[in-house]
Amino acid sequence: MGKLFYGTQTGTTEGVAEVIQKNLSTLVSEIKCIQFAKKEELEACDFLVLGGSTWGDGELTDDWLDFFPQMDQISFAGKKVALFSLGDQTGYSYNFVSAMRILYNKVIELGGEVVACRVSKEGFEFDHSESIVDGHFVGLVVDEVNEPELTEQRVQVWAQEVLRAVGNTAVAV
Ligand SMILES: Cc1cc2nc3c(=O)[nH]c(=O)nc-3n(C[C@H](O)[C@H](O)[C@H](O)COP(=O)(O)O)c2cc1C
Repeated sequence: MGKLFYGTQTGTTEGVAEVIQKNLSTLVSEIKCIQFAKKEELEACDFLVLGGSTWGDGELTDDWLDFFPQMDQISFAGKKVALFSLGDQTGYSYNFVSAMRILYNKVIELGGEVVACRVSKEGFEFDHSESIVDGHFVGLVVDEVNEPELTEQRVQVWAQEVLRAVGNTAVAV
């Protein structure tokens, strides 16, 4: 099993994290705000779901920024990581869910493998996102501001990709 760690500024992400856990119940044993996480907890997992809301101007939330010095001490070699971000495609169309790219770059820099990282842009309307590589989002994207009714379905589609990539190979912790 693996764990999900999320960042949030105003709490919306917690509900999305619960939907993700429901859809990845065979892989995710616990969800936790990164504010309360210790680096040993991430180190112990061979599968991780990492994400949260995009804040500021395409930035990570404060809790993630506070955790980054600890994150830098973790080797992600051998770890599979699935990413997600909440954003607002109308209000922040010029930097939609861009924070996910910061996590993507960090996981790769630390030696991890990002899975389910070719998510379709179809259905979203925005001008720019840093979180696009080769024409696809690098992880799950949901918009609780404008399209909360689509979240469940978006999670389901992405979760199938995660299960294909990780299967049940994750080791219990
Ligand atoms: C001050 C502020 C800045 C934001 N910046 C961005 C942004 O740059 N890109 C984006 O896609 N969404 C942005 N958002 C939208 C949030 O990601 C969205 O409201 C999200 O659902 C908040 O989740 P949370 O309550 O877990 O923090 C911003 C929202 C606020 C209030």
